[in-house]
Amino acid sequence: MGKKMKRKNAGKKGRFNICVIGAGYVGLVVASCFAKLKNKVICVDSNQEKVKLLKQSKIPNFEPGLPAIIRDAVKKKRLSFTTSISEAVKKSDIIFIAVGTPPRKDGEADLSAVENVARTIAQSLDSYKLIVEKSTVPVQTGIEIKKTILRYTSKRNKDFDVASNPEFLREGKAIDDFLYPDRIVIGVETKRAEKILKKLYEPIKAPVLVTDINTAEIIKHASNSFLATKISFINAVARVCEEAGADVRKVAEGIGMDARIGRRFLDAGIGFGGSCFPKDVEAFIGISKKLGYRFNLLEEVKNINISQRRHLVSKIKEELWIIKDKNIAVLGVSFKPDTDDVRESPSIDIINYLLEEGAKVRVSDPKALSKASELLKGAHFCKDPYIAVKNADCLILATEWKEFAELDFRRIKRLMRYPFIADGRNFLDRDKLRRAGFKYIGIGR
Ligand code: UDX
Ligand code: UDX
Repeated sequence: MGKKMKRKNAGKKGRFNICVIGAGYVGLVVASCFAKLKNKVICVDSNQEKVKLLKQSKIPNFEPGLPAIIRDAVKKKRLSFTTSISEAVKKSDIIFIAVGTPPRKDGEADLSAVENVARTIAQSLDSYKLIVEKSTVPVQTGIEIKKTILRYTSKRNKDFDVASNPEFLREGKAIDDFLYPDRIVIGVETKRAEKILKKLYEPIKAPVLVTDINTAEIIKHASNSFLATKISFINAVARVCEEAGADVRKVAEGIGMDARIGRRFLDAGIGFGGSCFPKDVEAFIGISKKLGYRFNLLEEVKNINISQRRHLVSKIKEELWIIKDKNIAVLGVSFKPDTDDVRESPSIDIINYLLEEGAKVRVSDPKALSKASELLKGAHFCKDPYIAVKNADCLILATEWKEFAELDFRRIKRLMRYPFIADGRNFLDRDKLRRAGFKYIGIGR
């Protein structure tokens, strides 16, 4: 640890001055959890409006448990917000990069924000800093960050390390995933960087895996791609179950009881969405190709995933024959429950297919309507799910919010024009609904 770092932390044994660049879904959780662990954290974002809101303790994203942690950390003066990277870097020992890495048109990750941030960090270096990539990036990005910093920093300030410390935070469960992770992965080039990161994570009781930077980067892409593969695998099995008259939920249970396979991430349905799996699978295919390997397995994972969305619509067509002018209620528009995030949400695609066919679509969601309304043109948004289902010919369950399981389905049956439920997540009680007089279809059963 550098002398200056020791001095700054005098009296606060083991705790650090940290800066987290990017106050998005990931950055904000990382910043507030490190503050909760008694570090002093400055969170930076280039979006002035966002920083203004955060300074008033208004949280831009819905993440359970996050507002309370932020309010407490701000009150204890352990967390603050700014738009100035250079101000934050100068006051920090460890710098986390958590800006967006969205997909480009060709599928590769757009790393321009990461490069931009690396350049600004380079110009602000004044003592030893540990620069950690938190955003999900293709392998060899760490090397490029290091080169960029060396290119733009002045000759006197070359005392820094770059490290990779991928996040495994599920939206909606991000706080628990941060504080109680299965593992912490640290990709480093020096003992100094390893020591600092181990010390930083000391309060979290989890196994720490130390690797080189390239390996840590691949661990992240391979983890998400493997989980996505599990989902597409069970969705392919679901298609066979439909044809054979078997129940994919029981199949998942049966294969999942084998400890080598495991039951988690084997829920068949309309497939995976969100800002991570689709983008990371695409980016892993992209970087593999660039390195000379065609990852055809992942191409198929992607194809199966997308086909599930159309598949649900064709099953609805089998029942309703014509979609044009039908009233369709869609319950759930976020890519999964407990988040307001609609990025790459399967529900959005399904709604668009239905709109293209001339359906009248009403959408309800506990948290995501405002974000969805920015993306969807032509659908109607109803806070109240009972208004969404009024006169509907079909109810699609697209996101398994627990609120939807608690609805009064007797009332829904009275409100619908034709009591038909297409459960895209195998979430509702099929037998109960059928007994109540609904026509019910699920996926793979
Ligand atoms: C991040 C990573 O980008 C992604 O690779 C990882 O897989 C998940 O975590 P996320 O937190 O979901 O994604 O992104 P987003 O919510 O879009 O937040 C990114 C934030 O960075 C935004 O608030 C944006 O304003 C900010 N940003 C972006 C900057 O501060 N500076 C920039 O140059 C670009
Ligand atoms: C993911 C990773 O799980 C997490 O470690 C981090 O790297 C960020 O990306 P997240 O995108 O928040 O987290 O959600 P996750 O719970 O993994 O679900 C992703 C998608 O898969 C959702 O659309 C969900 O509905 C779908 N899914 C998940 C299934 O379709 N079936 C399953 O069995 C599990």
